[in-house]
Amino acid sequence: MPVLEARHISKSLGGKLIVDDVSLTLDQGELKVLIGPSGGGKSTLLQCIHYLHRPDQGEVLLEGRSAAEMGRRNICAFRQEIGMIFQDFNLFDHLSAENNVAVALRKVKKFSTRAALERARAELARVGLADKARLYPAELSGGQKQRVSIARALAMDPKVMLLDEPTSALDPELIGEVLNVIADLAQGGMTMLMATHQIGFARRLTNEILFMEKGRLTERGSPAELLAPGSNSRAAEFCAKLAQLMGRE
Ligand SMILES: Nc1ncnc2c1ncn2[C@@H]1O[C@H](COP(=O)(O)OP(=O)(O)OP(=O)(O)O)[C@@H](O)[C@H]1O
Ligand SMILES: [Mg+2]
Repeated sequence: MPVLEARHISKSLGGKLIVDDVSLTLDQGELKVLIGPSGGGKSTLLQCIHYLHRPDQGEVLLEGRSAAEMGRRNICAFRQEIGMIFQDFNLFDHLSAENNVAVALRKVKKFSTRAALERARAELARVGLADKARLYPAELSGGQKQRVSIARALAMDPKVMLLDEPTSALDPELIGEVLNVIADLAQGGMTMLMATHQIGFARRLTNEILFMEKGRLTERGSPAELLAPGSNSRAAEFCAKLAQLMGRE
């Protein structure tokens, strides 16, 4: 059984169909990468999977349990089992790094203050921030902030992580430190779905690229299949354009 399955998800926003009949599965330990042009619906799809947007049609199953059949309370529990990482970090500015990680442990998982802080420090160490635990978001670089947000998601022991362009708000020299943390998670067996424009990263770490355009997953396959020179796929064409924009061949 896949850890996560999205079946025929559709979602309209503002009277426009944004996600159009999308299905995908994530097996245990799998990293899939979602690419495609801006406005194609990647963020909306991730938000539907996380039930930030309730899909108009289709269903999301976590370990075989359908979110649609859960009551309000269980939907909260369902959402807690999915870690979501946003482009803009979503940290609490008034809390230190360790308290950003500890707060949900205390409030949701009912950890004592001390146990929550201990776990928070361990998760921060895991993302290379042991020495930054007491600092506030304003005192951290973008890459460090994103690593705090990853530590916060990890502290909740998610079954799956959804990452929505986690490096696209970062200066180029900070992207690598965040991608390294994500690569470590992938190698450690975390199940993940990541929207990204980091094609080099995708090529190295994923078995399957999902290409999304105008609300639909129009192509899917291994990087070798989709991105091979001369493959004529839309994905290859899109990646070539991206590379051009970034000034690489
Ligand atoms: N709340 C909303 N109301 C109306 N339209 C919306 C809403 N949210 C998103 N959209 C529209 O849905 C489309 C898809 O947006 P989405 O953010 O999912 O795309 P994306 O693939 O993540 O793009 P990007 O690569 O720029 O992040 C866009 O045309 C956007 O304007
Ligand atoms: Mg987006």
